[in-house]
Amino acid sequence: MAYTAVKDFLQDELDSIRESGLYKDEKIIRTPQGAEVDTSTGHELIMCANNYLGLADSEEIEQAVVDGLKTHGFGMASVRFICGTQDIHKELEDKITNWFGTEATILYTSCFDANTGLFETVLGPEDAIISDALNHASIIDGVRLCKATRKVYKHNDMADLEDKLRETQDSRFRMIATDGVFSMQGDEADLVGICDLADKYDAMVMVDDSHATGFLGPTGRGSVDKQGVIDRVDVITSTMGKALGGASGGFTTGRKEIIDILRQRSRPYLFSNTLAPPIVVGALTALDILQTRPELRERLHENTAYFRNRMTDLGFDIVPGDHPIVPIMIGDEKKNVALAQAVNARGVFVVAFSFPVVPRGEARIRVQMSAAHTREQLDRALAVFEEAGREQGVIS
Ligand SMILES: Cc1ncc(COP(=O)(O)O)c(C=O)c1O
Repeated sequence: MAYTAVKDFLQDELDSIRESGLYKDEKIIRTPQGAEVDTSTGHELIMCANNYLGLADSEEIEQAVVDGLKTHGFGMASVRFICGTQDIHKELEDKITNWFGTEATILYTSCFDANTGLFETVLGPEDAIISDALNHASIIDGVRLCKATRKVYKHNDMADLEDKLRETQDSRFRMIATDGVFSMQGDEADLVGICDLADKYDAMVMVDDSHATGFLGPTGRGSVDKQGVIDRVDVITSTMGKALGGASGGFTTGRKEIIDILRQRSRPYLFSNTLAPPIVVGALTALDILQTRPELRERLHENTAYFRNRMTDLGFDIVPGDHPIVPIMIGDEKKNVALAQAVNARGVFVVAFSFPVVPRGEARIRVQMSAAHTREQLDRALAVFEEAGREQGVIS
């Protein structure tokens, strides 16, 4: 049997992943996602969710979803263009468009799909995509699917981006692709620099703002809002799976013709099921909440500043910045896992990130702040990090 050889090969791979401290276990949570959860190992304070605004267990969203289930049902059993478009799908697309002040929006079942469905639809072999070296896997995969020339510029390096723009002068169309906020570091793309270069070299700009939509910028519309470039960016992709209630779903918003062609040709949109009605209703409610309650993002930013400052005072190596993603750099994979385990054993739920999610030798614990965290919870987490960090020799 052919599988016998494959089985042995895969088992060896799995053993080596485990031996090098890179194996990812999944912990079981038995309650809704929130600041504290019950897990298979106890009651824990959670510090690793993308639940930035604390809406994952919002009673208001839950109630809207229950009501929405009654009015719009559970599933549509169809892709959008056959019989998978309800009034609420159009309502959500319009709401996102109006919020951003863009021209049009298209929904996907995830931002991963939004990214993999974008590039090959808009660009062809005569074109070029110029992509930041640390872009999310879904942008990388989307670029791989596209026949355009690919150039990767050094992370957030405007001089290197300019070199790549010069090298691709002969392309028909060009698109610069970047995360708005880089998920493993919590740092922001230099969007003003990127838009200036795009103007100079006549390129389009695409920003994936998954780790910023809902809470960065004066109106919470993301890094594009914070840096004042919404009207200079051609395409924004983002997720509903993080700040906007954290269930699932993604969208692409921007120029009308780009959105129109995606609706006609984008493969994850044409060949995958529509977003489930309860998810759409939940996202609509999440958007209402974040537009009317700026105090949620204010609390998130206060929590972030507090935690970042205290961790730095304790002697941890934190990637500087002001984003609620707080990467605690450890380096060595095994030491990283040991620290995460020591923190987990004290009732604080964190995850050790290692290769292939981050480069080898740059292992880290990525802590994430939420508006749901109270000051008491943050102090508890800090005390645990201090104790575990001393025990594991990470701080002195
Ligand atoms: C920058 C970025 N883009 C896209 C995604 C994928 O989003 P989704 O979960 O909606 O597929 C993520 C999620 O990890 C992300 O961090």
